[in-house]
Amino acid sequence: MSEFKSKIKTIEWVEDYSRMVDQTVLPYEFRYVDIKTGQQMFDAIQMMVVRGAPAIGIAGAHGVTLYAQELQGLPREKFIAELLQKADYLAGSRPTAVNLMWAVEKQKQIIKNSASDTAGIVEELKRNGIRMQAEDIAINRKIGDFGAEAVPEGAVILTHCNAGALATAGYGTALGVVRSAFAKDNTIQVFANETRPRQQGARITTLELTMDGIPVTLITDGMCSYFMKKGMIDMVVTGADRIAANGDTANKIGTYTVAIAAKYHNIPFYIAAPLSTIDTSIQTGNEIPVEERSREEVTHINGKIICAPEVNIINPGFDVTPNELITGIITEAGILRPDYNTSIKNVFSFV
Ligand code: MRU
Repeated sequence: MSEFKSKIKTIEWVEDYSRMVDQTVLPYEFRYVDIKTGQQMFDAIQMMVVRGAPAIGIAGAHGVTLYAQELQGLPREKFIAELLQKADYLAGSRPTAVNLMWAVEKQKQIIKNSASDTAGIVEELKRNGIRMQAEDIAINRKIGDFGAEAVPEGAVILTHCNAGALATAGYGTALGVVRSAFAKDNTIQVFANETRPRQQGARITTLELTMDGIPVTLITDGMCSYFMKKGMIDMVVTGADRIAANGDTANKIGTYTVAIAAKYHNIPFYIAAPLSTIDTSIQTGNEIPVEERSREEVTHINGKIICAPEVNIINPGFDVTPNELITGIITEAGILRPDYNTSIKNVFSFV
C-alpha cells in the first residue's frame, strides 16, 4: 500500500462543527473555514468551498448534523419532520454528484429509524458523518491499489479536473490510482488538464501532486489530443460525479472530449470512483441531471472579465461520457469491465 505524504484534511468534524479547506482560494492561500450552521454548509457546497463528489457527500452528512444541532430543542416529532425537510433542501445544493444525495439519505435513515431522543439523534448523526470520513479514505486506498494494477510501467497518466485528496476525505480516487501506482513505480507521471472554467486541474491537482512529489505537467484543455497523437499519453484516469446503471458517467465538463480523443488514439480511458457514485436507480446517462452554473465562471478569471461583457454564456458543470468510451470503472470492489449493465449489477449483488 502506498505511502500518502500530504496531510491535507479536506473536511473533518471538530467538536460541534465542520472544518474544511477553502478550495475557492487555492493555490494562492491555504486556509481552513469552520462551517457552523446548516445554511453555511449549503452555501459552502454550492459555492464550491468544498467540491468533488465524495467530499460533497461528507459535507452533506455534516450539514445534516449541523441542522440537527440547530433544531435539537424542538419536540421530537417536530424535530424529525423539520430535520428531514432541511436534509432534502441540503441535498439540492448541487444536483449532479450523487454522493451528496447518497450521504444525506444515510443520515435520513438514521433520523427515521432512531429510537433516541433529539440529543441522541444528533450524536448518531455526528458519529455517522465521522465514520463516513474514515471509510472514504479506506475506500480510496482500495480504489488506488486496484487501479495501480492497470497502470503500465513508466506510464504518463492524463487526468481532468481534480479527483484527488481534496475532492474526497483523503487520498483521492483518480489521484488515488496515481498515488498507489507511484508508490510502486516512481517513473510514472501525470499530465493535468487545466479544467476550465474553475481550473480545478491547474489550481488543485497540480498543488496536491506537487506536495506529494509526484511529477505533474499542466496543459490547457485543448492540448490533450495533441499530446495523445504524439504518443505521449499512456492512459487516462478521471473521477466521476454519477455513474448510471449502464456505466454512462457524468464528470467535470470536458471529460467527454478527453474520452473521445482517447478512443480515437487507442488510449485506455478509466473512471475511478467509489460504489456510492453509482446510481442504479437510473438506467442511462440521459437521466443524470447536469448542473448549470453561473455566467461569471466563464466570463471572468480571477475577478477580471475576459470577454465581451454582453456575450451569451452557457455553463454546464458536467458532461456525460457514454459507456462505450470507458475501458474500466475502478472501484473499491475491483475494476468493473464492459458490459457495465452486467458488471454493475453483479458488484451490487456482492456488497
Ligand atoms: O465541480 P467539482 O469540482 O465538484 O467537480 C469535481 C469532479 O468533476 C470530480 O472529478 C468528481 O467529483 C470526482 S471527485 C473524486
